[in-house]
Amino acid sequence: MHHFHYKNNQLYCENVPVAEITARTGTPLYLYSRATLRRHFQAFDTGFSDIDHLTCFAVKACSNVAILQQFATMGAGADIVSGGELFRALKAGIDPKKIIYSGVGKTEAEIREALFADILLFNVESPQELDRLQKLAAELGTTAPVSFRINPDVDPKTHAYISTGLAKNKFGIPVDEALEEYVRAHGMDNIEILGVSCHIGSQLTEIDPFLEALNKVKAFIGRLQDRGITIRYLDLGGGLGITYNDEEPPPPQAYAEALIKEIQGMDCTLILEPGRVIVGNAGILLTEVQYTKVNSGGAKEKRFVIVDAAMNDLTRPTLYGAYHEIQPARQTDAPLQVVDVVGPICETGDFLARDRELPRMRQGDLLAIMSCGAYGFTMSSNYNSRPRAAEVLVDGDEVHVIRRREDYDDLIRGEALLKLP
Ligand code: LLP
Repeated sequence: MHHFHYKNNQLYCENVPVAEITARTGTPLYLYSRATLRRHFQAFDTGFSDIDHLTCFAVKACSNVAILQQFATMGAGADIVSGGELFRALKAGIDPKKIIYSGVGKTEAEIREALFADILLFNVESPQELDRLQKLAAELGTTAPVSFRINPDVDPKTHAYISTGLAKNKFGIPVDEALEEYVRAHGMDNIEILGVSCHIGSQLTEIDPFLEALNKVKAFIGRLQDRGITIRYLDLGGGLGITYNDEEPPPPQAYAEALIKEIQGMDCTLILEPGRVIVGNAGILLTEVQYTKVNSGGAKEKRFVIVDAAMNDLTRPTLYGAYHEIQPARQTDAPLQVVDVVGPICETGDFLARDRELPRMRQGDLLAIMSCGAYGFTMSSNYNSRPRAAEVLVDGDEVHVIRRREDYDDLIRGEALLKLP
């Protein structure tokens, strides 16, 4: 459920026609609905209201500070994976004691920043990271709160690039090795063991892999208890999928109920790290048709709709073969045509949709690429020296620019010409 809908054949975001917004801001444009963001966070979080829990929004999914601020006001924590995400989360007003830090490659500088900020948990992903944490915490005269990220070797049945809980993936520590690491950490002066965590992948459309991982983590917690190690937090990561096309992921309520059933009676706080399920359908990418053309040289005639958004703005279609629905901002009864929607970048991989049936497009038409709120803007780049898109948030009748469009000076900020003789 989201707040992008047609009224009098015009696509609206909440109470505002999207074409009115792009007339002011230009395209390509990332547009978010505040009501949808709120609703999705609430739906997820209240699913767990019967148990002690903390919802840490996965900042990598959508990291604009205004959006993080919205979640902060609703009591959200943050799941971060870099010093930059820590910086954003703190700027947005997220309580450091609700911040957890995941990722296999935390640098010394990043760890120091997080220790200094006094975050809730480090999700440790290797023995060397534990040693680094102990050393840095000792140097700063503090203790590092840790949880180990267990790799449960569970198949999340999603795209290979976003599967993270299989033994062959780079993430986490295998269960048996993790036991030794907990015992080692237990003996370290500047390490405080607080939790166990796992995250098996993203865009999961079934509950079973989550339950399989949870059961492995539960069994592992039992083994820790046998060694006299108790934990306060069980972090099950993120990963719940959304509908892009015809997927039928479990609704957050069903996901919550299934997890709660499994952890009832355990004396710990459940941490969740949702990203996509909260923001995915709360944002769209608006783009204007520049040209249409037909290449008839091959065996089959091929129609192209060339738009002003490209793989640098939305990389998911080419990187993962991801499907994003495309809707015209103005509904017409123009005949349907099968087209490739492509950008101006000089690569054949620069497409937003292939072999898609759309009403016949004309120069200047506005298209909405749907479900771009997660891993849309955050994965965008300046490739082909394209300034990154603006981000706008609609709140009822109000329109807020939450990130201005980049200009050419932004492109070379930080670069320096050689001092030639
Ligand atoms: N926690 C950890 C440790 C993660 O690595 C991730 C996502 C999440 C939580 C949030 O997962 P979510 O609830 O959003 O599924 N760029 C890809 C997705 C990469 C996901 C990376 N990790 C895409 O566009 O599909």
